[in-house]
Amino acid sequence: MTSGAKGVWCVVVAAGSGSRFGTHKQFESLGSQRVIDHSLRTAAEACEGVVAVLPAAAIAEGIVVPDADLVVAGGDTRTASSQAGTDSVPDSAEVILVHDAARPLASPELFARVVSAVRAGADAVVPVVPVVDSIRHVNGSVVDRDELRAVQTPQGFRAALLREALASTPEATDDAQAAELTGAAVQMVDGEPTNVKITTPADLLFVRAVLDERAPGARTHDERAE
Ligand code: CTP
Ligand code: MG
Repeated sequence: MTSGAKGVWCVVVAAGSGSRFGTHKQFESLGSQRVIDHSLRTAAEACEGVVAVLPAAAIAEGIVVPDADLVVAGGDTRTASSQAGTDSVPDSAEVILVHDAARPLASPELFARVVSAVRAGADAVVPVVPVVDSIRHVNGSVVDRDELRAVQTPQGFRAALLREALASTPEATDDAQAAELTGAAVQMVDGEPTNVKITTPADLLFVRAVLDERAPGARTHDERAE
C-alpha cells in the first residue's frame, strides 16, 4: 500500500494503443524508467492506493509495474479503461482520481490541488490551462481563446459520483464529461503548462527536455543520442 492521502485512490489509465504516436507510448523510456513509471510514482506519493489499467497483452506477458497496488486490464475505449480501474478501487475510497499514464510530468502539487478541491466539496475537479494558439472554427471563423481552457489530468471526483457516472455513460471524452452528463458540477483548478499529454513523438521530446532541465545527467548518453 502506498503512502499518500488516506481515502484517496488514483486510477492511472495506460491501456491505449498509441495510434497517433505509432507505438505504446506509455512504455517508452524516460530516463532510467518508462513513461508510465513516472505517472505511477507521482500518483503513489499522492494517494493511499493506485490502480494501473494496462493492455491485456502486457498483463499476459507478465509486465511489472512498481508503485501500483492493483493491476487490471483496460477496455477498447478510454472510458471503458477508466471504468475497469474505478471498479477495482476499494469501497473505502472517498475520492478517486483518474490520471493519464501519458502525462508523466504532472506534479505532486497538482495532485494535491485536485484532491483539496474535492475534499472542499467539489463533485468533480479538472486541472485546466489557457489555450495558447489562435483558434479558428472549421468554418473559418475566429474563436476567442480567452473563453477556452484545455483540460488535463489528474481529474478528481467524489468516489460514488464517479462510479455512477461511468456506469451510465457509454463513452465520454474524459471522466469529467461523464460526471457532467450525470448532472455533476465540474470545478476547474490551475493545471500546469508542462503537464502535456504525450500524443505524438514531438511531445516525448518535450517531456525528455523538461526532465533533462530538472535533473541534468539523469538520462544516459545513449538515450540522448537516440
Ligand atoms: N487509454 C486507455 N484505454 C484506452 C484508450 C486510452 O487506458 N482504450 C489511456 C492511454 O493509455 C493514455 C490515456 O488513456 O494514457 C489518454 O489516451 P490517449 O492519449 O488517447 O492514448 P492512446 O489512446 O493510447 O493514443 P491514440 O488515441 O493516439 O491511439
Ligand atoms: Mg486515444
